[in-house]
Amino acid sequence: MPVHLTVQPGAQDYPLCTALLGQRSRWLLQHIGRGEDTASVILMDDADISHYNAMYRRRQGPTNVLSFPAAREMALPAGGLPGAELGDILISVDTAAREAAIAGVSLHHRLTELIIHGLLHLLGMDHERSEEEARRMQQQEKQLFRDLANSEPSGRKTMPHLAVNVDHIATIREARGIAEPDPVLAAGICELAGAEGIVVHLREDRRHIQDRDVRLLRRTVKTKLNLEMAAAKEIIEIALDIHPDMITLVPEKRKELTTEGGLDVIANEKKLKKTIARMHKARIPVSIFIDPDAEQIEAAREVGATFVELHTGRYCDATDEKQRDREFRLIEQSAELAFESGLRVNAGHGLDYRTTARVAALPTIEELSIGHAIISRAVLVGLDRAVREMLALVRG
Ligand code: PXP
Repeated sequence: MPVHLTVQPGAQDYPLCTALLGQRSRWLLQHIGRGEDTASVILMDDADISHYNAMYRRRQGPTNVLSFPAAREMALPAGGLPGAELGDILISVDTAAREAAIAGVSLHHRLTELIIHGLLHLLGMDHERSEEEARRMQQQEKQLFRDLANSEPSGRKTMPHLAVNVDHIATIREARGIAEPDPVLAAGICELAGAEGIVVHLREDRRHIQDRDVRLLRRTVKTKLNLEMAAAKEIIEIALDIHPDMITLVPEKRKELTTEGGLDVIANEKKLKKTIARMHKARIPVSIFIDPDAEQIEAAREVGATFVELHTGRYCDATDEKQRDREFRLIEQSAELAFESGLRVNAGHGLDYRTTARVAALPTIEELSIGHAIISRAVLVGLDRAVREMLALVRG
């Protein structure tokens, strides 16, 4: 365990994803060739860091980060000996949160920058020594952050769930207007193959899933039934009657082939607040399908959603790797922002056998909702195998 990450009581009110910070710290140690060494990262509040700041630097008030290289304590060469304890990094989450707000980045983004800064101190660098060293240290910090951002997220502690959307089984059925194939039966096969949830979208035009499907699924789904729906009066009444395990509110247009963009929570605030309040009264958790956008996340929190589902469509549809990377960073950053604001985070739309693993590796995401790719593959290899193959990607 090369990094000991602890959260002091003063910082425990922040929604901190220690899995993410631990994963990033371990990656950084490995990347700088000190994967065998150990370091401690201690997250605290302003009051605690002020105490250490006064005691060890004779400075009043809080600071963002303090580093205590073990090498200096024990008069060893800068950076210490390989396989050794590098030292302690103390970070004030209060100060980091203020700095994150000013810079317009997530708290976890700022904490990561401070961990990098602290690590370089542990290795013997010191920006207070000279202007030249300050410049070199800043360059190295930026480079390490870029390297980390470009690395594939890996080694997550928790695994997201796979919820399979079976709408397109119903699409095939409706193409003939007969009883088969049955999405209820398909849902059972998905669960037997390991899916942790079933999703269906009861559209107002009933183009695929029918009322009968949702009613039967409510009785047969053993994992979790997530009902996707528009905040439309008729569908709200059905949801309250059927009582799914959760609902996901999506925008709906008659002419679209599939859900096109995220719901504009800001423009629909009043209606959403009312719908969510009714669902909460009935103890049905609500997720809102939104684009990865900071303002929509904040609005989702304000209208009382429990979850947001981040729209992964633009990331999946990207036509070149640069664009795909840009879209992925947006999802990563939005997932952190949503998590930090107290929302639970799901993601979905357009995910397939190439694009899923990277999103699944983001530690703040709880569940992926995937339909079309699995059902398309199932046509060729069978539903059981298609679900198992996707599960293997989700579970890394
Ligand atoms: N999430 C939402 C909100 C959706 O509307 C859909 C499509 O029904 C999905 C996830 C699944 O998307 P796909 O079928 O592209 O996997």
